Amino acid sequence: MSLRNRIVFPAITTGFVGPRGEVTDRLLAWYRARSAGGAALIVTEPAQVSALGGLYRRRLRADSDDALPTLRQLAVAIQADGAKALLQLNHYGSRLPRGSSPGNDPEPLVSASPTTMPDGRPVRALTGAEVECLIAAFAAAAARARAAGFDGVELQAGHGNLLHQFLSRVTNKRRDRFGRGPAGRLRLLRDTLTAMRSAAGDDFPIVVRISAAELIERGYDVARGQEIARAAVAAGAAAIHVSAGTPEAREDIPLCAGVGEATLAGLAVSIRAAVGPAVPIIVSGRILSPETAEQLLTAGPADLVALGRALVADPAWPRKVAAGRSEEVWPCVGCMACQLPASEPGIGCPINVESGREAELTIEPAPQPRRVAVWGTGLPGLEAARVAALRGHEVTIYAAGWPLGGLLGLRSVVPGLAEMGRAILAYATALKALGVPVHDGQPSDDADVILDARPQPEQHPDWIGGETFWLASDVLKSDLRALIPLQRRVAICGDSSVTADVALFLAGWGKRPTIVTPNTDPLWDLHPTLAAHVRRRLEGYRIAIETEAEPIVWQPDAGPVRLGRSTGLLTIIQRGDQEDLGPFHSVVAAPGWDDDSPPAPAGPSSSRGTLDNGTDEQREIPVPPLCGGTIGGPESTPIPTTIPSGGPPLLLGDSYRPDRWRDLTLHAARLARRL
Ligand SMILES: Cc1cc2nc3c(=O)[nH]c(=O)nc-3n(C[C@H](O)[C@H](O)[C@H](O)COP(=O)(O)O)c2cc1C
Ligand code: SF4
Repeated sequence: MSLRNRIVFPAITTGFVGPRGEVTDRLLAWYRARSAGGAALIVTEPAQVSALGGLYRRRLRADSDDALPTLRQLAVAIQADGAKALLQLNHYGSRLPRGSSPGNDPEPLVSASPTTMPDGRPVRALTGAEVECLIAAFAAAAARARAAGFDGVELQAGHGNLLHQFLSRVTNKRRDRFGRGPAGRLRLLRDTLTAMRSAAGDDFPIVVRISAAELIERGYDVARGQEIARAAVAAGAAAIHVSAGTPEAREDIPLCAGVGEATLAGLAVSIRAAVGPAVPIIVSGRILSPETAEQLLTAGPADLVALGRALVADPAWPRKVAAGRSEEVWPCVGCMACQLPASEPGIGCPINVESGREAELTIEPAPQPRRVAVWGTGLPGLEAARVAALRGHEVTIYAAGWPLGGLLGLRSVVPGLAEMGRAILAYATALKALGVPVHDGQPSDDADVILDARPQPEQHPDWIGGETFWLASDVLKSDLRALIPLQRRVAICGDSSVTADVALFLAGWGKRPTIVTPNTDPLWDLHPTLAAHVRRRLEGYRIAIETEAEPIVWQPDAGPVRLGRSTGLLTIIQRGDQEDLGPFHSVVAAPGWDDDSPPAPAGPSSSRGTLDNGTDEQREIPVPPLCGGTIGGPESTPIPTTIPSGGPPLLLGDSYRPDRWRDLTLHAARLARRL
C-alpha cells in the first residue's frame, strides 16, 4: 500500500453512527474532513463482526452483507480526498455497557472466561464452538471490508476487547486450546488472522492493534506484548499498531495534559525490537507536535504516527503542518473533554467545536456588518469573537480584568496543566490574524451587540463571615510577590478540582497548603485519567487532604503564634464530629464559580460514573444532571433567530471545567453565526 505521508488517524468512536449501525451525514462529514485534512491512512471506528454475545448500539457493523452499502459509503468518503481507508474490526466481548444492545441486552455477557463485571452483570465463557464461529465471523468481515472497497483492515486485539480478553491471563483462565498457558492464549489471535487472510486474500493488509502492556495489576508487561506482536506477524499481520492499557488502566495511562508527548513511544521501541525493522510499526499516544512526529519517524521506533486527538482537535493538522502553517493548528491540550459526556451526544472538542459538526458549523458572511463587543476572555468569548470576525463583523474583546482564556487561563497557570494554555495561544494567533483587538475594561455603549462571556460570580461561602479571605481567582491571578501576605500554611476550602488547582499552584510557590473538602474526592469533576494525573501531583507535593470536611468558621487569630506570626484555626465538621484544624496563616475559599454544576455529594470518585476508559471510547450513558451542566446555563437558552442591535447583552458565560467549555463554546459558536 502506498501512502501520501506517514500520518494515521486511528480508530476513534464518534457516536455519529445511526441506530442500526448505518452511516449518517455527520459521520461521513467527519471522515471526509480528516481525509481532506491530509491524513494518509484513516482507520474507522470499530465495526462489529458478529452479533454473538450482543451488539453495541450505534456502532458500525460488518457482521452481514446488509452492512455492505454502509461500508462502501464510508470507504468512498475516506478515499475521496486521497486517504487510504482501513476498517477496524472488533468484538467487544464483555465490554458491552448496560443498555447498549438494541432490544436484546445480552445477559450474560461473553468473554474468554466467566466473571462478573464491576456493575454486577455476569459474564459467561464462550464455548469452543462459539469461538470457532467468531473466527469465521472475523474472516467474513475482512472479506466484506475488501468487497466494500477498503484498502485493508485493522484487527482490534487490544484495549480490553474480546481478542484482548483472550490474550490476557487476567481474563482468560480457560483450560481448552484457547487458554491453558501463554501459547494457548495466543491461539485465538493467530487463528483469526489466518482465517482472515484466507478469506480476504494474502494481498489484503491486516494491521493488528495491540495493547503492548496492560498497565494493570497482574496484567501482562511489554515482554508479553512482544510475544503477542511476534505471533501476530507470524500469522500474517502487515503492521503492528502499538497502543496500551485496558479500560481498568485508565488512571495509569499517560494520555492527558501534563504527561508529555509520545508517551507510548517506549513501548513501540520494544515492539520494534521484537518484530524487526521489516514490519511497519504504527505508534499512537499523545503525538501532538510536528517535531515529535518527525522524531518518532526519523530517530524513533515508528514507520507511521497515529494522531488521534490531535486530529480530533484539528483535522487539518497534516495539511497545515505540510504548508508550514503549524501556528494555525488547533491543539489538543489533553483536557479529556472528548471522553466526557456533554449536553449533546457524540464526540466534540472545546478547542475546536467545529470538529464533529463539520456540516453544521460553516461560516457565512454576515448580512450586515455590526460592532460586536465580547465582554470576557474565556473560550466561549474567544470563539464567538473569531466566528463573528470571520463573518465580517467589527469585533472587540473587553477583558474586564481577566487574562486571555478566562477561566482556562487561570487553569493553565497550575503546575502540570500549563499545556492547556496552548489553546489560548492558538486563539491569540487566530484573533490577531483577524485583527480583533483585546482591550482591558468594559464594553462601551457604541457596540451594536454585546456578548457577555464573563464567568458567573465566584461563590462566597457563608462560613467565611466578615473575615479577610482569598478566593481561588485572587490566588490564580497572582504572582509570587502578591502571594506573600498569604504566608506559608494555607487551608484551601472547596469541593471540586478548583480546590486542588489552587493547592498545587500555592505548593508550586513554596506554600504548605491543606485541602479541606466536603467530598471524598475533590477531583470528581475531572476525567479519571486527568484526575489521576492531578492526584499524583498533589501526592508529589505532599498536600494534605481533609475529606468529608465542611468548614463552619475561620478564626484568624485563634492559633498559636509561630515565628512571631499569628495563626488561625479552621473549625470543621468532619464525618459528624466538630474539630479545629490548623494552625493556618490564611484560608482560601475555592468553591469555584456559580456556573459550574453543583458539587457531587460525598461519595466515591466514581460519582461521575459516566466514563468508559482512558484508552478507548466514550460510552452512551445518559448524562446525569451533575455532568451535563445544562441546568440553567447559557446554552439552555434558545438562540434567537434574529439578534437586534442595541438589545441587552447576550450571555455566553465561561467555566472552569473542560466539559463545560465544550457546551458553552458550542453555544457561543452557534450564537455568533446568528449575528
Ligand atoms: C473519544 C475517543 C474514542 C476512542 N475510541 C476508540 C475505539 O473505538 N477504538 C480504538 O481502537 N481506539 C479508540 N480510541 C483510542 C485512540 O485510537 C487513541 O489510541 C488514543 O486516543 C490515544 O491517541 P491520541 O493521544 O493521539 O489521541 C479512542 C480515543 C478517544 C479519545
Ligand atoms: S477534547 Fe481535549 S483531549 Fe479531546 S481532542 Fe479536544 S483538546 Fe484534546
